[in-house]
Amino acid sequence: MEKLKIAGGYPLKGTVRISGAKNSAVALIPATILAESPVTIEGLPNISDVEILKDLLEEIGGKVAMTDEEMTVDPSTMISMPLPNGKVKKLRASYYLMGAMLGRFKKAVIGLPGGCHLGPRPIDQHIKGFEALGAQITNEQGAIYLRADELRGARIYLDVVSVGATINIMLAAVRAKGRTIIENAAKEPEIIDVATLLTNMGAKIKGAGTDVIRIDGVDTLHGCRHTIIPDRIEAGTYMIIGAAVGKGILVDNVIPQHLESLIAKLREMGVRIETSDDQVFVDGSVNLKAVDIKTLVYPGFPTDLQQPFTTLLTKASGSAVVTDTIYGARFKHIDELRRMNANIKVEGRSAIINGPIQLQGAKVKASDLRAGAALVIAGLLAEGITEVTGLDHIDRGYSNLVEKLNGLGATVWREALTKDELEHLKNT
Ligand code: EPU
Repeated sequence: MEKLKIAGGYPLKGTVRISGAKNSAVALIPATILAESPVTIEGLPNISDVEILKDLLEEIGGKVAMTDEEMTVDPSTMISMPLPNGKVKKLRASYYLMGAMLGRFKKAVIGLPGGCHLGPRPIDQHIKGFEALGAQITNEQGAIYLRADELRGARIYLDVVSVGATINIMLAAVRAKGRTIIENAAKEPEIIDVATLLTNMGAKIKGAGTDVIRIDGVDTLHGCRHTIIPDRIEAGTYMIIGAAVGKGILVDNVIPQHLESLIAKLREMGVRIETSDDQVFVDGSVNLKAVDIKTLVYPGFPTDLQQPFTTLLTKASGSAVVTDTIYGARFKHIDELRRMNANIKVEGRSAIINGPIQLQGAKVKASDLRAGAALVIAGLLAEGITEVTGLDHIDRGYSNLVEKLNGLGATVWREALTKDELEHLKNT
């Protein structure tokens, strides 16, 4: 196990290239199960979630070839092997195996998913959707058993706007008989990306990106080649880094329209931002103004950028309120930021940040992926050395983080944990 060491206080500048979207990748890879011939996905990020999903596809008999950022999956030899335990528990998105395997084989056994601990993360809407399509579902010893004699299109109204449920129902419905209508669907760009792949595979989907999605089931799907969209959350993280410690950072391979809420908030703080077709230039400022944010479903401010943004607010003048309406307990990073001298308190679903404060380097632990990003940004802003443990979380979602940061002039490196540190981590 390793820790990340960050020597803070250096201004960063230059160009950083954004990788393919994690939250698309984790759905696109399971989606390949639905085809009968090889599917190639280009531009995948170098993250552990991709590796784990590759292994899971191989466990069910798929042939997977991976070169650099490209994965080719031959799903023709796959079988509906039960996956009640093991690697499925390592990531949240293993729930997409339910929709994809149900769609292809009409049966699946999948262990309840793991992933970041952000408070309760139910999957009742996924289950409601599968049941509406005709599946019988039981929960036995921590694994979900799904079975259907036949999947039939249905009208499904989501009680909660859910990215995962929208995609999962799409996966199960593309090979169902007849028409499925998902109402109150989520509108995130990753949903459009998955719908694009499925359409290239021969599916009939209309309305992805709006709150009503219509799917006309087809008998079979075929292979194709697909290029993933850029990761808007990784891009947003580097934009926040640009605002925090940047002396001109060009974020390359980004769709600026995906980040309008962040761009608006950064401008409100006094950050200079220029956008072009697929790049965003961010110039930090010494005089940042505090702004309030409230996370909302897309196109509102993304919950996944709430934690990194909170770190930026420690540098801003005044009092700011950050409210997370999606995950009301996504505040595990706050205690760690306090260790670094931040003046923040949590009240219910909100964090109140008083700044500006000079953060100080400290030993901190990432409790989840975006908490990790928040602590890395804190380390870049802090005086002295910051040591971040819990890198398994960060490695799940940030492609080549050390290389990208050092490419911008940061001094960041990984070091093996000492025996004492390993022991301490086990006990905390
Ligand atoms: N919800 C339910 N029932 C459900 C599903 C969701 O009540 O059946 C609730 C959740 O508890 C949450 C809200 O609905 O309060 C939204 O959850 P959603 O289903 O949209 O989240 P998700 O699909 O599990 C994805 C991303 C998350 C991101 C959220 C919100 C993936 C693999 N994960 O999760 O990404 O925070 O959407 O945008 O796509 C991350 O990247 O760090 C991350 C956690």
